[in-house]
Amino acid sequence: MIANAAGTPVSITGLGCKVPDRIVTNDELAKHVDTSDEWILERTGIRERRMADPSEALSDLALPACRDALAQAGIEGKEVDLVIVATVTPDMMFPSTAAVLADRLGATTAAAYDLSAGCTGFVYALAQGYGMVASGVAARVLVVGGDVLSRILDWEDRSTLVLFGDGAGAVVLEATQEEGFIGFELGADGAGGESLWLPGSGSRLFDESAKYVKMNGREVFKFATRILVQSAEDLLAKCEVSIDDVDLYIPHQANMRIIDHATRKLGVPSDRVVINVDRYGNTSSGSIPLALADAAVDGRLQPGRLVLMTGMGAGLTWGSTLIRWTKEMAA
Ligand code: ACO
Repeated sequence: MIANAAGTPVSITGLGCKVPDRIVTNDELAKHVDTSDEWILERTGIRERRMADPSEALSDLALPACRDALAQAGIEGKEVDLVIVATVTPDMMFPSTAAVLADRLGATTAAAYDLSAGCTGFVYALAQGYGMVASGVAARVLVVGGDVLSRILDWEDRSTLVLFGDGAGAVVLEATQEEGFIGFELGADGAGGESLWLPGSGSRLFDESAKYVKMNGREVFKFATRILVQSAEDLLAKCEVSIDDVDLYIPHQANMRIIDHATRKLGVPSDRVVINVDRYGNTSSGSIPLALADAAVDGRLQPGRLVLMTGMGAGLTWGSTLIRWTKEMAA
């Protein structure tokens, strides 16, 4: 689906993020599987990633991110109407991590649910949150994107182990006087689902031996390089925006080669691209909000700037959104 954001203007008014303290280098992974720092760096651009402590679940990472996002928006948990958590690694299947977070934040009158759309989850959740606010159903929506992928990695499979990391980000969506969200393009292709899946995790098969991520790296690579470009171009055309007017490009952070390809094809100057895959690896639903937070810290996220975000991942799914940033961010 593709549409201009034609309703009440809605924007991001608060932003927070959190990664685990533990840094895992490529050399450390090379002690577990037959790989090397050189291979990982050259094929993926990843130098290190963060991994959660065994005692840390997604809600533990997301909670401080939510608190920071709420503080920046100047609201309290009890004022939140809806919590959406985009993730493929919730604390557990139920209760939802969104409900857990709503409780811990004191969001006692909020609706809360988790959303499963692989690494695209955060963009899907932004679209849902936008719709809730633009239609007047909710005044304040807390959108979380985060994953603890390290929990579902096979430590004997070098083709997936080296790619992923843990982290979470959160944003607050509210109505605004200014422009905010401009449009969304979202899609899914279930026919490609087995290219990236967790087969033993639900009602089809709940099985110890199939509880780890399985991926056809080459297929996902082909899909990713095509869809990052196509989704962004379709959205830009729909919104009648030139790529030259995009101030910040935030693609899903899966692999530096995929990002380089998309950046080149789209014609985005490299100083407008936000990169965190080198430090965090692929943090799945956390990748885009973590990159937003990086851009805030380095001073590139300023009111008036046009920000293009594109996610892609398991499903297979993809999604882009364009937002005119409205919030003054402390660098
Ligand atoms: N270390 C050393 N060698 C490795 C490793 C490793 N960690 N992983 C694979 N290899 C080997 C392979 O076994 C293969 O060996 P062979 O030629 O003897 O068979 C060789 O390296 C080349 O393998 P390729 O798969 O062709 O390597 P490629 O250059 O395609 O890189 C990679 C692999 C990094 C996985 C790449 O395909 C990729 O990034 N794919 C996309 C992955 C992705 O984005 N996933 C997440 C999507 S988002 C989400 O929803 C989670």
